[in-house]
Formats: sequence, structure tokens, C-alpha cells
Amino acid sequence: MTAERMKKAAALEALKLVKPGMKLGLGTGSTANFFIEALAAKVKKGLDVKCVPTSKATKDLADKLGIPLTTLDAHPHLDLTIDGTDEFDPELNLIKGGGGALLLEKIVASSSAHMAVIADESKKVKTLGKFPLPVEVVPFGIKATAWKIERAFKFLKMEAKMTLRVRDGKPFRTDGGHAIIDCAVGEIKEPQRLDKLLNTIPGVLDTGLFTGICGIVFMGTPKGVKEFKRKA
Ligand code: A5P
Repeated sequence: MTAERMKKAAALEALKLVKPGMKLGLGTGSTANFFIEALAAKVKKGLDVKCVPTSKATKDLADKLGIPLTTLDAHPHLDLTIDGTDEFDPELNLIKGGGGALLLEKIVASSSAHMAVIADESKKVKTLGKFPLPVEVVPFGIKATAWKIERAFKFLKMEAKMTLRVRDGKPFRTDGGHAIIDCAVGEIKEPQRLDKLLNTIPGVLDTGLFTGICGIVFMGTPKGVKEFKRKA
């Protein structure tokens, strides 16, 4: 079974959580897009929902498919966010941000009563860190910020290979105009501690570590969709 089919199967399973009247957060990425397409089909049949997109790409797709959109300012408390991930561990800690939408994704997910993640089986890991950790930073003073990030990794006895994300030969910019430093650090044994520490650095806007936010993962496999729930 292709990754595409596993992603779609996971998206269809997550769709079952959506009830009429809900305010939803819509994630970003290829897996989230399957959810958005499936949701649009339900909306066409009369499902009443309002959605907050986590990126311009998601906003454009949802708009094109006729999904009613709103903002987090109009609805600061959402019922459910559905998003993809780059990795998830057994505690449902995540690494996100491969698509560069991590900051808005974290704001939206943490404003939701529940976050459901949809993924194919390649995203499941024992310990986070195979995927380089994206850290979103303000472009101003980026070298000074990068030095502080490196120092934070050293403090936690982690060795980081840090790369400024580039797209089309230019520094990548998020929807908010920020830069991303991808940090290949190997196994992240204490994701919450690392996230907290990196977030104390001036110039760091956020990291792709989502800890204690995701409540359920729907993982598509060739044998069907598996569910993982976070232990209370
Ligand atoms: C976007 O910034 C990311 O957090 C995505 O949610 C994540 O990269 C998963 O993307 P795919 O579903 O395309 O793998």
C-alpha cells in the first residue's frame, strides 16, 4: 500500500471525530490535505463547521473547496485540530514543521480542546529525532540566535548539526516571514525539556516539538488504521 493511501485512510478515520457545529483547526501538509478534501465533501453535503487554517496553503485549499473559514481571533477556543506530523513517539510527542508551518500549527493546536494527528506508518518512531528538529527564528540576528541554540544543545549534552532552511536558493521564509533552522540532533530523550529550553532564547519563536498537545494519532498501515491514545 502506498503512503498516500495510508494517509488518506488515516484522514477518513479522523473525520469521524468531526461533529456538526464544531470549530476546527486545519493542519498543513500532504496528509492534512487528504483530511481537508474529505471534510470538503462532507461540507458539500451540509455539514456545518467553521475552520481555522494553519497556513496560507491550507487556507487556499480550504477556500477553493468551499470550506467555511474563520480566525482564531473570532474563535479563540476550537473543538478539534487535525494535522499531520513528521514524527510521533509512544507518548504522542511530535516533531512538526517539515512544511514550515510549525508556529501557526502549534498556536492553533494548543487552542483546541483536542488535537488528532493523522499519519502513515513511516512517521512512528521509538524516540523522536530521526527527523531534524525545525526551530523557527526571527531573521534579525540569526547568527547570534543560532549560537545560543547550539549552546542550549551542548548544555543538554546533545550534538546538533544545524542547517538554515533554504528554498529555491534563498533562505526559506515561513508565512510569518521567519526563518527556520533545521537541527539534526539524533535521539531527543527529553523533548519537553528541550522545547522549554529552546523557547527561552530571544529570537526563537518556537520549535517543532509538540509535547502534551496531541491526544490521538490515527496511523494508516497496509492492514488498516491503528489508533494510539495519549495516556492521561
Ligand atoms: C507542516 O509544517 C508540518 O508540520 C506537517 O504537518 C508535517 O510536515 C507533515 O507533513 P506531511 O503530511 O506532508 O508529511
